[in-house]
Parts: sequence; structure tokens; C-alpha cells
Amino acid sequence: MQTLAQYLTSQSLPSSLEKLIFTLADTSKTISLAVRNGALAGVLGATEQENIQGETQKKLDIITNDMLKESLKADLAVRGLASEEEDHIVEANNEGQYLVCFDPLDGSSNIDINSLVGTIFSVLPMQKPVSQGSLTEQHFLQSGRHQVTAGYMLYGPSTMMALTTGQGVQFFTLDPNSQEYLLTNDNVNISPDTAEFAINMSNQRFWEAPMQTYIDELLLGTLGPREKAFNMRWIAAMVGDVHRVLSRGGLFTYPADHKNPKKPFKLRLMYEANPMAWLVEQSGGKASTGYENILDIEPEHIHQRVAVILGSRNEVDICLRHHQGDNSDEINTQVAPSLV
Ligand code: F6P
Ligand code: MN
Repeated sequence: MQTLAQYLTSQSLPSSLEKLIFTLADTSKTISLAVRNGALAGVLGATEQENIQGETQKKLDIITNDMLKESLKADLAVRGLASEEEDHIVEANNEGQYLVCFDPLDGSSNIDINSLVGTIFSVLPMQKPVSQGSLTEQHFLQSGRHQVTAGYMLYGPSTMMALTTGQGVQFFTLDPNSQEYLLTNDNVNISPDTAEFAINMSNQRFWEAPMQTYIDELLLGTLGPREKAFNMRWIAAMVGDVHRVLSRGGLFTYPADHKNPKKPFKLRLMYEANPMAWLVEQSGGKASTGYENILDIEPEHIHQRVAVILGSRNEVDICLRHHQGDNSDEINTQVAPSLV
């Protein structure tokens, strides 16, 4: 089996980008260990702090954010970083060519129940060099199409990394003996059709009309217009749900809802939606908000949130056709402000 190093060498990436992927991979080994030690290391539970989005931070949110921040700041290829757990962007090295956006511990509510969590990352190019002290949020506001690499690490029964540099998607598995990431799938492919969907059903009454109709049809199974039985899964960690979609197909969505009118969307564009959308597209799947391709969104601020529908191409298309229909009672989230 090829190691991550051997695989990256074969891809002829710029050496600074190769090094940056190593920095992320190496840090994830330390995170994996902290997650695995759990209660033994005293890392479980919440803190009294909140992030900028008003969510209580878990101890591991802060620990993993600090680990990534420190190692990325020490990597000369990194010009700056933006994290779900940081209020503002963080400037790194003046010579760096890359901006790194990350969710250090996705699904952190799973931590205390010893369930799936992961790290999601997205790397953007620094378009024009600026002097030290002049890096701003504006430099990060590039659509997902600009990503040069993206992926996630999943801390599950085995620690895995999904990676894209624009040449398809590869899965690596961390060998616990050698502590090397080994290439275990060099061509991840999402089946175009599926009979499995993932959504938090408890929000059903708050969704827009098109999503209500679409899910109603799935639930009707063989008796409904789809004439097909569907199964449902919900891990409550995007990284776990997307990994299932990449592994065996499916549709994952966190749609718009009006539970809290000030917060119509849950998932973050720069740390969650963009990297996952690119992985899904690179595996032959599709990713949309319901109204536009996620990768085409021009971000307005780093902590922006969006609706997400992604997965098996044909199934996503069926869901999108519902959104193109005339549903007069839907909330117009196309123009709703993307609130933090
Ligand atoms: O990061 C946000 C997140 O934890 C995702 O990983 C996950 O898909 C979602 O929120 C879970 O939301 P809920 O708590 O509504 O199930
Ligand atoms: Mn997350």
C-alpha cells in the first residue's frame, strides 16, 4: 500500500502544498490520540466559553483548534487561517501562499457519547501577496471553486482521511502501528442512484415546502410516487454522514428551516459546505443549496452558513427539481441573509 508521502509525490503538487497536507495529516494524528484517550485524558465535556456563533465550546473543540492553529502557524506555506472556533482570521507567515479554513472537531456533540467526530479542512490560494499585518477576512472570501485541496479526517473505529487535490478523491487509513496514512481507496466514486437519505427529521415542520414534499415522497416508499423503499441514517456529524455518502452513496441534507428565523441555515460554507461539496463533486456526486451549486457561492463573510443538499447525483437532481417547482408558501431563503 502506498503511504501518503508516496502518493503525494506521484501527484507532482507544489512542494509547499505537499508539505501543508503533511502538516494537516500529522496534526490529525495527535487529535486522533486525544479523541481516543477520551475520559482518560480528561478532555471530555464542555467549557464555559461560547464561539462567535453562540455555541458552547467543548473542551475538545478548543484543544483541537489550538493544535491545528499552532501547527499551521509553524508551516511557512500558510499565510493565514480561519477556524469555526476562532472569531477572526489568524495571520501566519508572510511568505505563505495558502489560506487554510477548518472545522477542528466536526460533530463535537458526539464527543461525550463516544461517537463519530472529525476534522474538516479547505485550502485556498493567497491571490496577491500583502505585507505582514495586512491580511484581512476579504482575502478568504473566495468561492469553493478556488480550493486547491480539501478533505477531512474521521476519528472512527479507524482514523481515515479523505483527500482531494482536484484529481478525484482518495481515502487513506491511519495504520496504528506505523502511524502512517496508507492509501486504501484511490478512486472514490459515489453511486449515482441511492435508496438512503440523511436528514434531521425533528426539524420537518420548519423546512421549506419543496423539502417537505421531497421527504414525504421518500417516506411513502413503495406506496408513493417514487415506488421505492428508502432507508434513513443520521450520525449528527457531517463528517460521518458525508463519509457514508462517499463510501456507499446516499443523499445528505441540512436544509433551510425557520425554527430560528435569524438562523435559517446550520452548516458553515467555508469550513463544512465547500470542502464537502468539492469532495462530492470529485467523486461524481452533486452538491447544492437547493437553488445554486455550493461551489459557486461568493462568500460574504467567513462564518457564513448555507443550506446543503449533497450526494448521489440522480437523487440530488430529484430533490432539486422540487426546489425549482412553484411552491408559493416557501420561505425565500434564496435572498435570506446568510446570518452567522
Ligand atoms: O457542525 C454542525 C453539525 O454538528 C454537523 O456536523 C452535523 O451534520 C449537524 O451539525 C448536526 O445537527 P443536529 O444537531 O441538528 O443533528
Ligand atoms: Mn462542524
